[in-house]
Amino acid sequence: MDKFVIEGGHRLRGTVAVAGSKNAVLALIPATLLAPGIHRIRHTPNLRDVWTMSRLMATLGAHVELDSSGELFVDTRAIEHFEAPYEHVKRMRASIYVLGPLLARFGRARVSLPGGCAFGPRPVDLHLKGMEKLGAHITIEHGYIDARTDRLRGAPIHLDVPSVGATVNILYAAALADGETVITNAAMEPEVTALARVLVAMGARIDGIGTSTLRIEGVRELQPLPWVENIPDRIEAATFLIAAAMTRGSIRLTCVNPYHLGTVLDKLEEIGCILDIDGSTVELRCNGELRPSNVTTAPYPGFPTDVQAQWAALMLTAGGSSRVTDTIYPTRFGYVPELRRLGADIEVIENTAIINGQARLEGATVMSSDLRASASLVLAGLVADGRTDVLRIYHLDRGYERLEERLRRLGAAIERVPTDEF
Ligand code: EPZ
Repeated sequence: MDKFVIEGGHRLRGTVAVAGSKNAVLALIPATLLAPGIHRIRHTPNLRDVWTMSRLMATLGAHVELDSSGELFVDTRAIEHFEAPYEHVKRMRASIYVLGPLLARFGRARVSLPGGCAFGPRPVDLHLKGMEKLGAHITIEHGYIDARTDRLRGAPIHLDVPSVGATVNILYAAALADGETVITNAAMEPEVTALARVLVAMGARIDGIGTSTLRIEGVRELQPLPWVENIPDRIEAATFLIAAAMTRGSIRLTCVNPYHLGTVLDKLEEIGCILDIDGSTVELRCNGELRPSNVTTAPYPGFPTDVQAQWAALMLTAGGSSRVTDTIYPTRFGYVPELRRLGADIEVIENTAIINGQARLEGATVMSSDLRASASLVLAGLVADGRTDVLRIYHLDRGYERLEERLRRLGAAIERVPTDEF
């Protein structure tokens, strides 16, 4: 077990290259099940969640290897099983992404129901309704989703909520179904768009990519691609920009897609950061007072729920009173009691965190509860007086590659230390 030991008070300055998107690659890897063959995915981040997905794919019969350059090799010619066991799904909800591809390839899938997580029940009803609309017969027994179909048939599917995961699973299945599927109120996150574009490159017929209405004309088979390029991780990019702003430093991010960061960049400018955007490079400078802000999360292109914890930490360093409201995960505030241990003046009322940015933060030991909460605690430790220990950083390693090394290169005083503290 590791922890981070952070000494606060150091300005971040320098350049960092943003890694490949965790949430995009977790959708691209199961897509390889749709086309037996050898696939390569470049710009794959070296993360715990990628290892979990790779182990799940190996359980199904795939051969998966990630090389030192970030190229993921996936051979799906010998897929013999269609069961995603609980041991993988309990570690990562995105394991449910094998449901659609296995149904499309075998007409059969047995996938453990994902449990909840630290910030909510995380239902999968929209995934299952989507599969049923496409002709799958689904039963739930002993904690497993058992799905069968003689043949998937296209259908109109309306999502009550623009669910990223449900849109992803329906895209996989519809790509190889008979006839046309139209998804209305589909998620428009860049990770969904990235998957749709790769499926088209594999031979799928999809219109409306990037919009909330996706029209898929099923085809008989898809072809493996010699290689695909993963998109940059917009959540990691936002986290680094916020870290620089909190420490009143400056940062130059490379390998970014600024269009994926729209609302976050607008908010950073609104509170007083100076941004310079040039192609795939975003520079931020912040050397004065930051203004308070009110942020409400929303499906893309709204403010990302995956950035709300980091934004709340940033608001601790701004003047005045700020509010952060999460409309997607109303209880995603596990980081708040931990920030209060650092002396933060922050409270949660219903699905809103109210932050008074006047308080000085003092180093303490704090505990991560989930991926983005742990990022929030690390950011707060960068500005707290003295030493902050962040425990359970295995949460952080799910979604940030060698974060301590990259923050250290920017001037942070942060070390990864083995610990038996849990
Ligand atoms: C994806 O999760 C991301 N994960 C999450 O990022 C992200 O927070 C989330 O989208 C929202 O943007 C990956 O891409 C691997 P949803 P997902 O289905 O697909 C409700 C991170 O930190 N819902 O879009 O599980 C749900 O309760 C992770 O990287 C249903 O009601 O999210 C939520 O309120 C955390 N029924 C809303 O939809 C369903 O069947 C959005 O969830 C599915 C979802």
